[in-house]
Amino acid sequence: MAKHARKLFRPIDQVICASSLDQDRGLLALPPNYFNHTITDPPYSEYVHRKKMSGSSKGAVSTPVTFDALTLEELQTMAFEIVRTTSGWAQIFCADDDMRSWREALSAAGAMRWVTCIWTKPNGTPQFRGEGPSQPCEHIVTAWCGEGRPIWNGGGKMGHYSVPTEPSSTRRHETQKPLRLMKNLVLDFTMPGDLISDPYGGAGTTGMAARVTGRRYVLWEMDKDHAERSSAWIGAASEQLSIERMYHRARGAAFGDEPQPSSEQSEMNLAASSPAQPA
Ligand SMILES: C[S@@+](CC[C@H](N)C(=O)[O-])C[C@H]1O[C@@H](n2cnc3c(N)ncnc32)[C@H](O)[C@@H]1O
Repeated sequence: MAKHARKLFRPIDQVICASSLDQDRGLLALPPNYFNHTITDPPYSEYVHRKKMSGSSKGAVSTPVTFDALTLEELQTMAFEIVRTTSGWAQIFCADDDMRSWREALSAAGAMRWVTCIWTKPNGTPQFRGEGPSQPCEHIVTAWCGEGRPIWNGGGKMGHYSVPTEPSSTRRHETQKPLRLMKNLVLDFTMPGDLISDPYGGAGTTGMAARVTGRRYVLWEMDKDHAERSSAWIGAASEQLSIERMYHRARGAAFGDEPQPSSEQSEMNLAASSPAQPA
């Protein structure tokens, strides 16, 4: 063995503060099929980004985004890297205007296009000028990257997820997805112990959903503050989960069956769990 052999980059349960397209610390440094699944919410294309930033989103009040748009070249490179490193499902959140680019890029990279799921928001933003309907949903382009027949846990149900947006009091990122939505996707599309990649981590919701459902995760986030905060959030919630589990086990042993907290209550606790100061 070479004296100074380079340590292999094989991350697990980590938020990596780097570009997911970095040569040394991104997807490019990982072997094929390293992940079971990819679930991610990338920045908009330049076209959609311009529309959102100019406030011409058809009368809806949209939150200005602070990160850059994806160029078509970056989108295509990312689609290729996702398909190369994923052996199961790839799920990409995108605006309706960007659906075609993602579907074409994933197909060109060798994935089997499956369906585009939708996320509807019962508390979604109305069209304030009343000139026409507001945008009813967000899209999740869903493709199978593996060999053989796709498998999931949802039987024959529709790929429709109706979940309220995260309240602003617990939101940590301008485009944060609700924990319940991400948990539902993880439960439907992945199995316990699976390793899930999110190359555009944001507040870390995919990682948190993986953590609380017994899956593993690797997230990338370029923004240092978001990377540190998401890592601390998942860490703090992990501690809280272990304490809750120990408590329920002890109560169970002492008094027989104890009811577990409802999943809504436990989501609220997790969403509000305050991250420790980053190391
Ligand atoms: C749409 S947000 C993701 C929000 C996330 N779904 C959540 O629930 O918080 C996209 C994030 O990707 C990050 N980002 C953009 N390009 C990146 C890249 N090449 N590598 C890693 N992170 C990137 C941005 O800083 C931004 O925080």
